[in-house]
Amino acid sequence: MVKKNTCVFISGTGSNLKNLILKSRDYNFPINIKLIVSNNNQAFGINHAKKNSIPYLIINTKDRFCEEKLLSILKKYNISLICLAGYMRILSKKFIKKFKKKIINIHPSLLPKFKGLNTFSRVLKHGEIKTGCTVHYVNEKLDSGYIINQKGFYLTSKENEDTLKIKTQRLEKWTYPEAIIKIYRYFNF
Ligand code: GRF
Repeated sequence: MVKKNTCVFISGTGSNLKNLILKSRDYNFPINIKLIVSNNNQAFGINHAKKNSIPYLIINTKDRFCEEKLLSILKKYNISLICLAGYMRILSKKFIKKFKKKIINIHPSLLPKFKGLNTFSRVLKHGEIKTGCTVHYVNEKLDSGYIINQKGFYLTSKENEDTLKIKTQRLEKWTYPEAIIKIYRYFNF
């Protein structure tokens, strides 16, 4: 198997990043994480890059040439897949176009329900009986691209935002790797 060079974008804890690094060590898993990008120099997730000796890049999204610089670095690393994992910035239309069908994201709800932020509080407020997580392609609209993989669970009567977060993140550990295998097999990214 020729593994695809992958870049993971983060802004925070990096629990999905940690899991993808672990999975990528499996010779059957179709990606190699070649680069980690963070828009936040305090992101805990950067530690996963350091610990695993994966090159990382801190970007300043206020710099007007940020995306151009980023594009040239992604080219240098020959990146063919970008995984957003808790990346809290919107990518420009131009950037998305350059990586058409090569950027995927994980979102903590059963899309198309609850796009955007604060999903857990909204799930509770709306009295949902089921929630979960979704991996989707990134397009120009927020959390609206083609759905690749989705997993859900039923809420109990004692649910709160913390329990929803724990249960959702537990599911994300399976949902993201499965999505990557799926696009490798069926869409040949
Ligand atoms: C995840 O729950 C994901 O659904 C959302 O942001 C969270 C990031 O968590 N996009 P982490 O940084 O991977 O720990």
